[in-house]
Amino acid sequence: MPSFNEHNLTECVVQRFDGCESPRLKQLIQALTRHLHAFVKETALSQDEWMVAIEFLTRTGQTCTDRRQEFILLSDVLGVSMLADAINHRMPEGATETTVLGPFYLGEHRLMPNGADLAPAATGERLYMAGTVRGVDGQPLAGATIDVWHADRDGFYDAQKPELGGAPSMRGRFRTDAKGCFSFRSLVPASYPIPHDGPVGDLLKATGRHPMRPAHVHFHVSAPGHEALVTHVFFSGDPWLESDAVFGVKDSLVVGLEECTQSTYPDGTPAPSSWKLLAYDFRLKRSPS
Ligand code: BEZ
Ligand code: FE
Repeated sequence: MPSFNEHNLTECVVQRFDGCESPRLKQLIQALTRHLHAFVKETALSQDEWMVAIEFLTRTGQTCTDRRQEFILLSDVLGVSMLADAINHRMPEGATETTVLGPFYLGEHRLMPNGADLAPAATGERLYMAGTVRGVDGQPLAGATIDVWHADRDGFYDAQKPELGGAPSMRGRFRTDAKGCFSFRSLVPASYPIPHDGPVGDLLKATGRHPMRPAHVHFHVSAPGHEALVTHVFFSGDPWLESDAVFGVKDSLVVGLEECTQSTYPDGTPAPSSWKLLAYDFRLKRSPS
């Protein structure tokens, strides 16, 4: 009859998984066991704290629905999502950097012609985006697909606005032309808090952290023969760039929005008296052949 104690328990539990048939699952569960035990020992976790953690994780699970994933949000605010993203997307020189997908990607968007307005019925400062999709060698990629989504001027996504009745707004899909170019019109999104009315919000509050993300536009860019790119473009000067609640900002993804007063957009269509130009090119890594 083995006698377990705080000195031998970790290795006893690790050995209990020795017979696991999948080498990868065995590696993951044994490392998880060692790290969890090390955490309990390092912090001398009290019984009360253990219970608080159990209740917190229980509430996190109970907050998940088919429209809300509180565990991913927890991973986001702990920096785990960005760490997993970083080690899985080590980019070659010149390739556009990645960042988190976020909860507001709703899968493939409706295909729209270049220059289309993503937010014709919404009010806010108008934005024109013009970009090119290239390979890392700089060659333009014709026929690349760009899914775009972003918040409105109050920081809300369409999925957070029941009054839209599920109609898509500030999201769409574009295809690059023969020169690898795409463009669309929309409005300038605002910075916004991540959903913070659940356990993750409670955690941020209890630890003195804010829930804000700097304003950004999301992109999912794909092209045959290349790895799909999930990223955002942020705007310089945003007060939340340094302290993004989900650690998603990278210098190379921050751009200046150009203030414009020309009476037409770059595609010749009429523009209001002032609007912002967002110019950004994406460079995709080749898929392993
Ligand atoms: C977002 O940018 O949409 C987002 C990302 C992570 C957590 C919450 C929101
Ligand atoms: Fe977002």
